[in-house]
Amino acid sequence: MKVTVVGAGAVGASCAEYIAMKNFASEVVLLDIKEGYAEGKAMDLMQTASLNGFDTKITGTTNDYAKTAGSDIAVITSGIPRKPGMTREELIGINAGIVKTVSSSLLEHSPNAILIVVSNPMDTMTYLVHKTTNLPKHRIIGMGGALDSARFKYRLAEALGAPISDVDGMVIGGHSDKGMVPLIGHATRNSVKVSEFLDGDKMDWVVQETKVGGATLTKLLGTSAWYAPGAAVSGLVQAIACDQKKMFPCSALLEGEYGLNDLSIGVPVILGKNGIEKIVEIELSEAEKAKMQESAEGVKKTNGLLQL
Ligand SMILES: NC(=O)c1ccc[n+]([C@@H]2O[C@H](COP(=O)([O-])OP(=O)(O)OC[C@H]3O[C@@H](n4cnc5c(N)ncnc54)[C@H](O)[C@@H]3O)[C@@H](O)[C@H]2O)c1
Repeated sequence: MKVTVVGAGAVGASCAEYIAMKNFASEVVLLDIKEGYAEGKAMDLMQTASLNGFDTKITGTTNDYAKTAGSDIAVITSGIPRKPGMTREELIGINAGIVKTVSSSLLEHSPNAILIVVSNPMDTMTYLVHKTTNLPKHRIIGMGGALDSARFKYRLAEALGAPISDVDGMVIGGHSDKGMVPLIGHATRNSVKVSEFLDGDKMDWVVQETKVGGATLTKLLGTSAWYAPGAAVSGLVQAIACDQKKMFPCSALLEGEYGLNDLSIGVPVILGKNGIEKIVEIELSEAEKAKMQESAEGVKKTNGLLQL
């Protein structure tokens, strides 16, 4: 199992680290355009191998795609992150060009790879990869919902005063402050709906804090977060590499599911060795359907900025 991670910045390096720590991949290749950067990150990470007990081989390369040849999975994290006060949508101008070039270079050397798109605005970058590579739709996956759901569970546990292992919940919709749809009505504490424990104000607080989860961190850190994004990507990579058939909310190209067409947006999917093996259509309330529709309109508006 060979995994390439393009972009050896904060998210890319964290992603490589978590993949290695889980010890399921034989090789991780980090690639960056900054001279020596990926090589340096790879060497530093390899020097944690004996300390952390993993055998995954991590190598780095400065823009040499030949070194990524034969990858089974490729993760795209290259591009600029947002600064405090910026929206993810504002990154489109620079990141669209980067994501387009990177995905085509990756496929030249790894024609069978499954692509995971992380660069923002992620739903639009995922759609761009669909439009420009023409790969079968099950091989292009956008990562956003897995991270947003982890942030949702963090806030749920906080509001409930419960350990995180006690809570479950999912965020679907667009990966943006306005577009996220945290499914609070479906969230549970050990299979009991959280509405049994939390009043309306508390639930509204959880939803709001989840939606601005990335912005809160960007304000604190001066750039966007990397630990949870890297861990979320590694979960997706592991589900594919180990054919786990696990369900995650991911950005998938929709063709009628949830009444939506011709966009990539966060919905529950089953991930296995073929990438997206199934899009799961769950029953949504009328309010949730309306939020999903509104979210889709936002994503489509950003997609409209692409020069396809
Ligand atoms: N989808 C999500 O949930 C999620 C979460 C966090 C961050 N992000 C996004 O991920 C991206 C990366 O964030 P980061 O914090 O790691 O940024 P970063 O600046 O730390 O790293 C980005 C790296 O990409 C490299 N790069 C730029 N152009 C390249 C190219 N053409 N080829 C190869 N490498 C190239 C840069 O040299 C840099 O090292 C941003 O767009 C950010 O918004 C998405």
